Amino acid sequence: MTERRKILVTSALPYANGSIHLGHLVEYIQTDIWSRFQKLRGHECYYVCADDAHGTAIMLKAEQQGISPEQQITEVQAEHQRDFGDFLIAFDNYHSTHSEENRVFSEQIYKRLKDNGHIATREITQAFDPEKNLFLADRYIKGTCPKCKTENQYGDNCEACGATYSPMDLIDPVSVVSGAKPVARESTHYFFKLSEFTEFLKDWTHAGHVSDEIANKLNEWLQGGLQEWDISRDAPYFGFEIPDAPGKYFYVWLDAPIGYMASFKNLCEREGIDFDGFWQADSDAELYHFIGKDIVNFHALFWPAMLSSAGYRTPDKICVHGFLTINGRKMSKSRGTFINARTYLEHLEPEYLRYYFAAKLSPGIEDLDLNLDDFVQRVNSDLVGKVVNIASRCAGFIKKLNGGSLADRVLEPELWQRFADANSVIAGYYENREYSKAMREIMALADAANEYIAAKEPWILAKQQEKADEVVAICSLGINLFRVLIIYLKPVLPGMAAKVEQFVNDPLIWSNSLEPLISHKIEKFKPLMQRIEKDRVDAMVEASKTSLEQQSDNAAPGGPLNDEPLADQITFDDFIKVDLRVARIIEAKQVEGADKLLQLTLDLGGETRYVFSGIKSSYKPEDLEGRLTVMVANLAPRKMRFGVSEGMVLASANSEGIYLLSPDLGAQPGERIT
Ligand code: MSP
Ligand code: ZN
Repeated sequence: MTERRKILVTSALPYANGSIHLGHLVEYIQTDIWSRFQKLRGHECYYVCADDAHGTAIMLKAEQQGISPEQQITEVQAEHQRDFGDFLIAFDNYHSTHSEENRVFSEQIYKRLKDNGHIATREITQAFDPEKNLFLADRYIKGTCPKCKTENQYGDNCEACGATYSPMDLIDPVSVVSGAKPVARESTHYFFKLSEFTEFLKDWTHAGHVSDEIANKLNEWLQGGLQEWDISRDAPYFGFEIPDAPGKYFYVWLDAPIGYMASFKNLCEREGIDFDGFWQADSDAELYHFIGKDIVNFHALFWPAMLSSAGYRTPDKICVHGFLTINGRKMSKSRGTFINARTYLEHLEPEYLRYYFAAKLSPGIEDLDLNLDDFVQRVNSDLVGKVVNIASRCAGFIKKLNGGSLADRVLEPELWQRFADANSVIAGYYENREYSKAMREIMALADAANEYIAAKEPWILAKQQEKADEVVAICSLGINLFRVLIIYLKPVLPGMAAKVEQFVNDPLIWSNSLEPLISHKIEKFKPLMQRIEKDRVDAMVEASKTSLEQQSDNAAPGGPLNDEPLADQITFDDFIKVDLRVARIIEAKQVEGADKLLQLTLDLGGETRYVFSGIKSSYKPEDLEGRLTVMVANLAPRKMRFGVSEGMVLASANSEGIYLLSPDLGAQPGERIT
């Protein structure tokens, strides 16, 4: 028996201002599988999480709904917990960062950082909304780009021309919150002196706590020099007030990771677990944080630095995953692929998704694609067609020919042993978060079991009375092999495993030396899993399509998942102002020093235009020459770093590439498009 490890596992704390969606679930399912696996292996493992309840966004959301922030976070937390529960995410504790435990730890850690000289204060100037009396983060300011004059740009960079600036440099800036014109205002802020931890972090990030891939990313920050981290926000703010600093609050990201400790403390108090044994500096317990790739700096730089200054242990591993795409693209409300956990559950079983994610998850940070056709096909063929099929083909004969009792012998000891021995390879895959490899291994075993049964054809033998004994022995082996597969799948499919425990009348326990069930009574076989019908998936997508009003309702400004919204409605007269023309590309060439641009020479039926276009990543210049496309011919000339652009060619883009528009055959250069 290997030693009993003490392990504390966390997932990132979801914000308390929105619903759980399938993207989030990549993380919670991944972590849940890992923690269930550790428990199944007999380790002392706790999985804790909480709602991330603080910050301006939550404060504004509550205000918008006409409720208090406390009420807002209570309601959302209840919704989150219901969603997680229904996806079979088995937290040992689910708490809130707006809790007494979190206040105590946040104050304590802050005081320790301060006593150690790691806190600085200084005045900063920021945009301020004079109507709401609120300092405005960049994403709450909108205006016209000072460089290219594109309207409606958020924050500190322009989506049209890529320029970066201070939000106060926007032309005609407005506060997104009130519509007022922001003014510049000074205030004192508190900073964590992260730069003093540069050497510590250079070592820490290269000591196996993050993958090499992440360590290399972090290197860019570490080499560039770490800035002081602004950890305070001015009132009004929903959070914890900083001790001895009236009107100043901890920035939400200061107390969020401390929420891991707070949730665990809450569990320890309830169940008599030794908190210090897990968090003291020389703790022999393991600490694993599962997070998405967007929040690495908070977990692999700020957090270990804070913990080490405050005299606590640092994490053993930060396990980082990529983002979810659906059908190869970012989740989108208009395409119906921004799918909330609840919408999914109204149409489909949670274990389908748990299995599909497991079948695709690796320890890397590449994005994970949920292809809905593949999802249906994969789940049906693997789980229903391969795994469940073994039991449903065998169970009836055991019942009919042997009164529900398994045979008193194992027919093919080698085949049995192959299944039992696979446990160490599969355990290794789970441990290292190589779930896709684990699933592949398990499905290869399922294939072997099916081949065995198919070769023996018990349904044919069963027609001869004298072969009854053999049929029972074949099917008993089938059931035993099936039982092993479900033990290996138990972290992924806990619901199905519970049904199988009833069926085989025995707890499914993962042991290094699995033994077959001999002369053992099993129960009546009941269907374990239905096939996915494609129309359920279609209905889910349909139900996820939201109207435009609803979209803007809960779109967090600047959030990474917002689809590009449709532009405001215009009149026909507005439209006709845009002079679209057929153009022939007569020359295309590289632009020195520009990594995205090509310079195009366009023929408009006699008139020549020079246009810069950001299509270099998808087109070779020589392939473009001679072809027709569509251009905006009356766009005001734009001065760019490389010269003047006299118009624009039209193209769409997605993560795969850029797609230039072309008219159908017969169109001639210079013709107007209406
Ligand atoms: N509140 C912070 C985390 C604080 S942890 C101390 C936060 N919340 S979140 O709700 O935006 O995200 C929670 C987790 O879900 C993050 O790890 C994030 O990376 C992950 N995901 C959110 N959207 C995701 C996808 N579309 N795909 C995969 N993971 C995603 O960040
Ligand atoms: Zn611009």
